[in-house]
Amino acid sequence: MVITKDIKMADVIHMNHFSLSILERFGIELGFGDKSVDETCKIYNVDTDFFLEIINAFIHTEYFPKKQLQNFPVKLITDYLQKTHNYYMQIKVPEIESLIEEMVLSCSTQKENINLLKRFFSEYKEELKNHIQREEKVVFPYTQLIENAFYSDKIDKQTLRQMDEYSIDIFEKEHDNIEEKLYDLKNIIIKYLPQPNNKTLCNKLLHELFGLEKDINDHSRIEDKVLVPKILEMEKGIRKKAGLKV
Ligand SMILES: [Fe+2]
Ligand SMILES: [Fe+2]
Repeated sequence: MVITKDIKMADVIHMNHFSLSILERFGIELGFGDKSVDETCKIYNVDTDFFLEIINAFIHTEYFPKKQLQNFPVKLITDYLQKTHNYYMQIKVPEIESLIEEMVLSCSTQKENINLLKRFFSEYKEELKNHIQREEKVVFPYTQLIENAFYSDKIDKQTLRQMDEYSIDIFEKEHDNIEEKLYDLKNIIIKYLPQPNNKTLCNKLLHELFGLEKDINDHSRIEDKVLVPKILEMEKGIRKKAGLKV
């Protein structure tokens, strides 16, 4: 069922509890009683239409409102992406690290294997950190520059020079699949890790990894299928306005 603005916010969580993480990113706290999605968004100063597109894209993988999402301002999109980055680095990654740490401590027979797992994940964390830094320091500021230029009457030389040095197709090519390694990590646990004494911890860890992988997948889809095409179009518009060949 596609979520609309009149549905109760509580039902959104009942429908898919993973959506809790999306609410958190928008700063929406639990305790909304019987308020609708629209009423709750208004209280938290959240753009209801944007929230609806994001939550629907997250819950229904087959529902992906590429065009609708592209209509929102760059700032709204990159702010959301940035909040998602914070959620990964400040909440999800530490949660997974502490689960692995608990496994190391509670396991007497599998220490070596679990330490290997720990190393693998810390390498992943480094990779994720670099990936995020590149987007926040280079890509997102560039997208804002392009949007500003696109809506301004005159295109200055500085913008054109920047577009020569870096354009969104560079990001499109270099944007690596950061969730692939998570898939490998899950596979190591599922296929090869002999069951540690504490199976509950191991299952919890797998559950967390599945959740993070789904979330990053959804996140990358917004970067690749919404942000990139939107900026590509704007770059074309800027070149046209400046009288350059498109
Ligand atoms: Fe990202
Ligand atoms: Fe990314």
